[in-house]
Amino acid sequence: MTNFAQFKDLFSIPKGTVYLCGNSLGPPLKSITEEIKTFLEDEWAKELVKGWNSKGWFSQAKIIGNQISKIVGAPTNSIIVGDTLSTQVFQALTSALKLNSKRKYILTDNGNFPADVYIAQGLLKLFKDKYEIKIVDPEKVTETIDEDVAVVMLTQVDYRTGRLHDMKKVTETAHNFGALTVWDLAHSAGVLPISLENTKADFAVGCTYKYLNGGPGSPAFIYVAPKYINEVEPALFGWHGHKSPFDFSLNYEASVGIDKMRIGSPSIISFAALRHSLDIWEDIDLSELRKRSIVLSELFISELDKLSLNFKLACPRDPNMRGGQISYICENGYEFMQAFIEKKLIGDFRAPNLIRFGFSPLYLDENDILKAIKIIDQVSKNELWKNYKNIDRKTVT
Ligand SMILES: Cc1ncc(COP(=O)(O)O)c(C=O)c1O
Repeated sequence: MTNFAQFKDLFSIPKGTVYLCGNSLGPPLKSITEEIKTFLEDEWAKELVKGWNSKGWFSQAKIIGNQISKIVGAPTNSIIVGDTLSTQVFQALTSALKLNSKRKYILTDNGNFPADVYIAQGLLKLFKDKYEIKIVDPEKVTETIDEDVAVVMLTQVDYRTGRLHDMKKVTETAHNFGALTVWDLAHSAGVLPISLENTKADFAVGCTYKYLNGGPGSPAFIYVAPKYINEVEPALFGWHGHKSPFDFSLNYEASVGIDKMRIGSPSIISFAALRHSLDIWEDIDLSELRKRSIVLSELFISELDKLSLNFKLACPRDPNMRGGQISYICENGYEFMQAFIEKKLIGDFRAPNLIRFGFSPLYLDENDILKAIKIIDQVSKNELWKNYKNIDRKTVT
């Protein structure tokens, strides 16, 4: 049984702050400072370029991939880490399209994160409109899948509302019609129990800076179902994915296995932080983590209900139908969130009118939730949000 209280003290969160924004950026472990210092001094400064061999930098993309495999229920050697999530969406979607190239449509929903849709839109241009994109309501996805759909590309947890797709059901339906799936797990990995293996997902991608606490802009990951790995051809012929990169041949020949999905030199300094952040996951039972996350979000909702504010729940009321975050439709949401942040309750705002709160049990407990509610009450009763009216919005909301 996981004792979640043991993790709270491992995280560095400013005293007095309630951090409900792990769905955007996870906080650092306190020990990360020492870890990065050690990397700088013992690896980079001491080993210099030798570090690629002596410290195994070249192999880390797969080693860290295997750490993530355990968190998302993937077989060993089916995940590679590196690059940004947007790049990996491109890599996964294009590779999936190549496997199913006779079909017409990329199917997605209007709850998908815009970055994924932009990547798909860019691809359509690249393929000179050979493909089309269909964007439907999340509830309409399964009924829209047909024999013309090449790839169903979805984010499992809606970044706005937290609504959760049934990965297994959607994937099964896609397969019944001969379509492939690309799942974006940005808002799932590290807060939901996932089994890529059981759901039979074909491709998946995700980031490590939200619930995996890898740090701002930490590397993304890509999964390819082992049954496709021989057949799949990456969209980006990366030199790190070459069969023998240090032969420096001018002809691309893909490596075998998941290594072929590698692109270029990863950020080894980010890998150092990520590897360390992932170490704690060895001791975490994801079903228990999910239960704790639901307990905390349910407490938040029920306590907030008592305040009778003009906030309307935007996420599903049934906790099993949502991911690790909740959100509310809130008029003047931006102003409210700025006032909460001023009082040390950190969540975020998504235009036009959503305020979001994330619930990671690794560094949150019931006291934090009650404190958050007190701050919300104080800000509303004293109309502190009005102090932020007519103020220019910051770049990141
Ligand atoms: C679901 C989802 N997909 C894609 C992205 C884009 O990720 P990145 O900016 O790391 O490329 C994000 C960013 O938050 C996201 O939430």
